[in-house]
Amino acid sequence: MVGGMRLLVLGGTEFVGRAVVEAAVGRGWGVTVLNRGRNAAIPPGVVSLRGDRTVRDGLAALDGLSFDAVVDTWSWDPAVVAPPAVSAGWYAYISSRSVYQWPVAAGASESASLVPPSTDISDYAGIKRAGELAAVEAFGDRALLVRAGLILGPHENIGRLPWWLTRIARGGDVLAPGPASLPLQYIDARDLANWTLSALEAGLGGPYNLVSPSGHATMSALLSACVSVTGSAATLRWAEPAAILDAGVAPWTELPIWLPPGESHDAMHTSDVSRAVATGLRCRPVTETVADTWAWLESIGGVAPQRADRPPVGLDPDAEAAILKGLS
Ligand SMILES: NC(=O)c1ccc[n+]([C@@H]2O[C@H](COP(=O)([O-])OP(=O)(O)OC[C@H]3O[C@@H](n4cnc5c(N)ncnc54)[C@H](OP(=O)(O)O)[C@@H]3O)[C@@H](O)[C@H]2O)c1
Repeated sequence: MVGGMRLLVLGGTEFVGRAVVEAAVGRGWGVTVLNRGRNAAIPPGVVSLRGDRTVRDGLAALDGLSFDAVVDTWSWDPAVVAPPAVSAGWYAYISSRSVYQWPVAAGASESASLVPPSTDISDYAGIKRAGELAAVEAFGDRALLVRAGLILGPHENIGRLPWWLTRIARGGDVLAPGPASLPLQYIDARDLANWTLSALEAGLGGPYNLVSPSGHATMSALLSACVSVTGSAATLRWAEPAAILDAGVAPWTELPIWLPPGESHDAMHTSDVSRAVATGLRCRPVTETVADTWAWLESIGGVAPQRADRPPVGLDPDAEAAILKGLS
């Protein structure tokens, strides 16, 4: 398949799906989205269909249509992934590295052990794995399983990078979780979108870990970029992991993105991405991701959207102040 593909995006109007739509429009592809219409943003030229995937006959708008490829960002009941109503050549399912059995070894590749599939939507890993299996059952080798890790960039609706930007913009002493050189691994949603579209064009199938190479950025590079783009007078006060953990702070949720060196960091920030890199993954610099996310955040009044089914992230200011007070 080359050029001018007819793409269906199931979803397509919040974060990752929106990036896919914008990238496909940028390539001159014919793009159709299907969703319930709760979000306004559809770029000009995109065909917008209404449908509810969770109800009987909810995909009637697809009757008689066929596509070269589909991108599906579904993250709930896997029973609706790759439904018979979708007629397409290729199916990209935006999956997650959560499908790997914990603990995930440092440097693990796509061959690491997988969790069992589940239909319980409180079991995120299990339903993502079940979504993968549904895509493979329907599309076989033409199912592309995009195992994303941490996703950042404009329109992020989990609140991780928006929290850091907002906190640093507020200024003063900022608790910076060390070590400063801690390697990070994430993907800008726009880089995910570009790789996925190119992979569909190239006819790739099967699972791909999709995050930057580990160390593409460090904790220091990320937070320094936040200081720089916000023009803040904030001072980063680096703290040893033990000082933060001893204070009872939850890595990842209270201090988003950060995981102390050890098992969780190995699992989340050291994945083997050589398959994705060998098939064209390009990751923009962290400074660009941070600057564009800040520009977007400012354009919407500084309050990031929050997925209703994910808890807010971030550290209570009093808890931060207490830890800062204890630093020498
Ligand atoms: N954030 C991370 O760090 C991370 C990491 C790894 C993997 N992931 C994966 O990345 C993906 C993120 O996707 P996203 O939410 O940003 O995608 P998106 O496609 O931008 O937004 C979700 C779409 O689903 C539509 N939708 C919701 N319920 C629907 C229904 N019942 N019927 C039809 N459409 C419906 C929404 O529109 P309406 O509400 O208008 O229907 C919206 O267009 C997920 O698969 C997640 O598991 C995320």
